[in-house]
Amino acid sequence: MRVALLLLIVFTDEASCKKVCSYKDVVDYLNLTTDNSLYKLTRPVLDYTHPTVVELDIILYAILAVIEKTQTFIPFIWATMMWKNERITWDPAQFCGISEISVPQDMIWKPDLFIFEMIQKDDSPKNPFMLVSHDGTIVSEEDVRVVSTCKMDMHKFPFDTQRCNITIGSAIHCVNEIRLLAVSNSSRATEFSRELIKTQGEWEFLQLLVSSSNYTYHDRQWEQIVYTFTMRRRPLLHVINFLLPILFFLSLDLASFFIADHRGEKLGFKVTVLLAISVLLLILNDILPAMSNKTPLIATYCIVIFALMLLSLLETILVTYLMDKDFASMEKFRLRAEWEDKQGKNRMDNCNKEEKRKSLCPCICKVSEGERHHELLPVAEQVNNSIQSGESRVLLLILEELKELQKTLTLHFSCRDYGGKSVLWAARINRAFYIFYVITVSLFLPLIFIEWNT
Ligand SMILES: *[C@@H]1O[C@H](CO)[C@@H](O)[C@H](O)[C@H]1NC(C)=O
Ligand SMILES: *[C@@H]1O[C@H](CO)[C@@H](O)[C@H](O)[C@H]1NC(C)=O
Repeated sequence: MRVALLLLIVFTDEASCKKVCSYKDVVDYLNLTTDNSLYKLTRPVLDYTHPTVVELDIILYAILAVIEKTQTFIPFIWATMMWKNERITWDPAQFCGISEISVPQDMIWKPDLFIFEMIQKDDSPKNPFMLVSHDGTIVSEEDVRVVSTCKMDMHKFPFDTQRCNITIGSAIHCVNEIRLLAVSNSSRATEFSRELIKTQGEWEFLQLLVSSSNYTYHDRQWEQIVYTFTMRRRPLLHVINFLLPILFFLSLDLASFFIADHRGEKLGFKVTVLLAISVLLLILNDILPAMSNKTPLIATYCIVIFALMLLSLLETILVTYLMDKDFASMEKFRLRAEWEDKQGKNRMDNCNKEEKRKSLCPCICKVSEGERHHELLPVAEQVNNSIQSGESRVLLLILEELKELQKTLTLHFSCRDYGGKSVLWAARINRAFYIFYVITVSLFLPLIFIEWNT
């Protein structure tokens, strides 16, 4: 009895060992072959009025790039699709409990889902298999590098937050043929993506919104699921690269008002600062897209600062011009005075030498001011009329000299008066412009930073 029992145990044990199952048995049972049209041709439902429900889940793996210039958003996503093939069923008990097999992607029907925003075919290697369960549930997973177009608002660049959509829908199957169902709601998808995200780079992932919508075209409706990725730019690089240097140049330009020299050096300094700014503007040209519905704040920032610097350069040119004019006229009058001096001397050379020696005396009288000449000259005129003696010739010469002196002095005085005026104006303009400059800058900068922050 005991031996018989032992034999029985050995027998049953051997029998269970004999029963060897392979996945091929299941494949053979299902008649799955690469050229079997039964599984590939049409939507796998027994009753055509049944819609195929596709459950979709998308998780963001990485934000590979956001290209503002071409308005392109390149995320790396992990998509899971799950649907039911009503033609596939088997009993796992018949196949040693095999409840799942993997089959190549192109052997059975797959929903024709595609991403509306995708502008470039994904050529990264595909996951070759799908998982088929005994009840006909099929799971397909794919990593997709999506090159999608995304309308970006650059108004607040580089302190901006961007929203990009990825819309998934069937290409030809309407809402009564394929229904789409998002597995995760917004908060779950956001949470999963936050956990899984590998690289964010310049961008900080904020949230993933999931919503469903129906798209109607020619009385036919398609169901689509819209995934909205929200991300915020990390502005540090742009601040260091762009905003701060411009501020530094602006402060340099402000400081250049204290360069005492109003001539070439100051002008050269300002032109250099302006050139430096225009080089920075070239960088901006590389980043910003050509079309933008709202002027980016950074453009306003640059243009206003550039305009202020340009104005200050023009103002310096004006001031330099005024000073130069003053200087030139002084120089001109000095030369003319010298020339007239010479003329006077030539005339004196015509006179005899002793007279000339005596004529040197009036030169000492130079001290007198213009007003005194006016008083003095009529008297001299009278002297000229009344006295005709030998000494009168000397007096006449003195008179001549005094007239020359008066001319020179009045010329000098008028010239100094004129010059004084333009220097005064230059100083006034300089001060007024500096005040205007400082006020404009101290109003503009806080305003634009407030606008940037809200
Ligand atoms: C597979 O093909 C055989 C013979 O053509 C058929 O008898 C069987 O029912 C098929 N199996 C399935 C699951 O359709
Ligand atoms: C889309 O259409 C289907 C079928 O008519 C409906 O059940 C579903 O609620 C619609 N979805 C939306 C977002 O309107």
